Order: sequence, then structure tokens, then C-alpha cells
Amino acid sequence: MDIVVSGIRSTGRLHLGNYFGAVRQFLGMQRTHRCYFFIADYHSLTTHPDPAALKASSRQVLIEYLACGIDPSIATIYRQSDIPEIPELYMLLNMHAYVGELERVVSFKEKVRKQPDNVNAGLLTYPVLMTADIIIHRARWVPVGKDQEQHLEMARNFVQRFNRFYETDFFPEPYPFRQSDGQMIKVPGLDGSGKMGKSEGEAQAIFLSDEPSVIRKKVMRAVTDSGPTTVNTPLAATITHLFQLLELVSAPDVVKHFLDAYAQCNIRYGDLKKQLAEDIIAFLSPIQEQIKALEADDARLKRVLHDGAEKSRQSAGHTLQIVRELMGFNS
Ligand code: AMP
Ligand code: TRP
Repeated sequence: MDIVVSGIRSTGRLHLGNYFGAVRQFLGMQRTHRCYFFIADYHSLTTHPDPAALKASSRQVLIEYLACGIDPSIATIYRQSDIPEIPELYMLLNMHAYVGELERVVSFKEKVRKQPDNVNAGLLTYPVLMTADIIIHRARWVPVGKDQEQHLEMARNFVQRFNRFYETDFFPEPYPFRQSDGQMIKVPGLDGSGKMGKSEGEAQAIFLSDEPSVIRKKVMRAVTDSGPTTVNTPLAATITHLFQLLELVSAPDVVKHFLDAYAQCNIRYGDLKKQLAEDIIAFLSPIQEQIKALEADDARLKRVLHDGAEKSRQSAGHTLQIVRELMGFNS
């Protein structure tokens, strides 16, 4: 059975980008693959959260994983920081990672621009830690959104380099798990400017735990254009974000209704937004019920983390032992 690893940084609550970019893929794979899903709490340190915030965010990500339907009785769910083998492998891999190639990573260059006063070494070696996360279980597939494509390319480079240097085929090359159409997912933000994401501004993201009133407010404020002026023109780039969101949460006939209205030039964006808000609310309602129940169930959360750490460490320990031998330790 192919092995799958994926994680989400613990920087607070999950949004629809995380859900459709990552979590929904986890749900589809947990019954057919050996899956390891983790809370990337070390990764969140690059932005210096305070300890209390870090703790609360990790707990929230765990709650939301479970609320979405990731099932700890079939998939292994754990916290990155509970697995000491991961930072050890990260340290070893760092010796074969070059500063020049790390400096060329797009997400690194973006961070340098966004947080120029906090360009820490962890930020530079972020793709190395991510590689350690993946290959610690010798995973072949990594369900992630489009923004992670380059990180996975780096992971394949590091794997090839390791295998070549130590004359082994121990590590498989990890690939992003793609949808049936071969595409990677990018969920747009409500402002239409790019991807939905926390660092892009809270107002353009819908969080899984947003109250209905908050969802209505955010969606009604979403950016639109002034509408089509000629019949049967293709969808303008300035409005595709709302249609993309509609496609994720609404029934096909609803999407068709608004596409037809657009083609006929009689679309009212206010109606589209109202519908979109209600469909998001309906989509999230069962998840939110689960979130509420889990928030009060500390014993269950503890148990999941305890069992997940144990299962994950078994696999990680095995990998690390072989790596150490390959590299000339443990003789
Ligand atoms: P992050 O919140 O940046 O740790 O992302 C966790 C996972 O969610 C990664 O697999 C990302 O690719 C995915 N993700 C985050 N935002 C989006 C988005 N707007 N569209 C698609 N996937 C996303
Ligand atoms: N870098 C990912 C993100 O920011 C999170 C992540 C860390 C991850 N390690 C991973 C995803 C390993 C998949 C596999 O979204």
C-alpha cells in the first residue's frame, strides 16, 4: 500500500483553502493508502508565535482535522513535535542542502519581502524540514495545494541526492497527489487577488469555524467587477474567484443557473453572493457541530495524540535507524 504524508502548519484555524487544497484530499485517501497526517507545529515557529498561541493553534488544527472526518482509527494523526526522529533527519539532510538552492525558493523570497526583519535560518531551511516530514515515513504521495509544488520539487531533489550519495534506493521520490484532472488545487480568496490564506488577510478567507453571520458579512464584501456587458462573453478574470468558490460548495444546477445568468448579462452579483454565503454555511454546519463537540473532549484529543505519536514513531524510528546506518553511524 502506498504511503501518504501531509501536514498543515499550526497557525490557527483552518480555512476553505486548507480544506479543499489538503483536507478533502486526505479524506479521499485515508481508506485506500497508509496515511500519516500531522500538525506542523515546528513549521509555524518561523513566524515566532508565543507559546500559548502555538499551543492553542495546534489543538485547534487537531480538532478541525477530526471534525472534518479524518479518522484516527485508520489514518495516523500526530504532532510533528512529538516525533524527535523528524528534527534528527532534518539535521542530517541539512548537510546535503545548499544555501544557494534554498535562497532561490519562491516562498523564501516572498517571506524575505514580507518579514524582512525576521529572515531566520529556519525559514531558509523550511523545505528541508518539509522533506524530513515526508521521507521519515518514506511517503510516495503528498496531498497538498498548488502553493506547495516547488517544495515538493525540492524534496525530490534532496531524495535523489541522498540516494545517489549513499548509493541506495531507500527513499522513494515524493510527488504531489493530483486530482483526476491532473491539476493541483488553488482556492481563491474573496478579494480575487490570489489564493485564500491566512497571511493574505483574514477578511478574504472563510475559516471552517466562522459563524454564519461572519460568513455572510465576508462574502457580501467580496470583490466583484461591474458585470458582463455583452451576451455570451467568457467569464472575466475579475469574477472567476466567486464562481470557483460556488463550484466547491454549491449544487451543479446552482452553478449553472449563475453561469447562464452571466452569459445572458442579467446576473445580479448580490444574489450570487447570498447564495454562495448560504451554501458555505450549509456546507460547514456539520463540521462546526463536530468542532463544538471536540472542543469539550480533552480526553479524546489527548488519546488521539498519544496513539498517533506512538504509531508515527514506530515508522520514523525504523527509517532513521536505516538512515544512520547508510550514513556511517550505528556501526
Ligand atoms: P498552510 O495553511 O499554508 O500550512 O497550508 C496547509 C495546506 O493547505 C497545504 O497543503 C496548502 O497547499 C493548502 N492550502 C492552503 N491555502 C490554499 C489555497 N488557497 N488553495 C489550495 N490549497 C491551499
Ligand atoms: N509546508 C506546508 C504548508 O505550508 C505544510 C507542511 C509541512 C507539509 N510539512 C509538510 C505539507 C509535509 C505536506 C507534507 O502548507
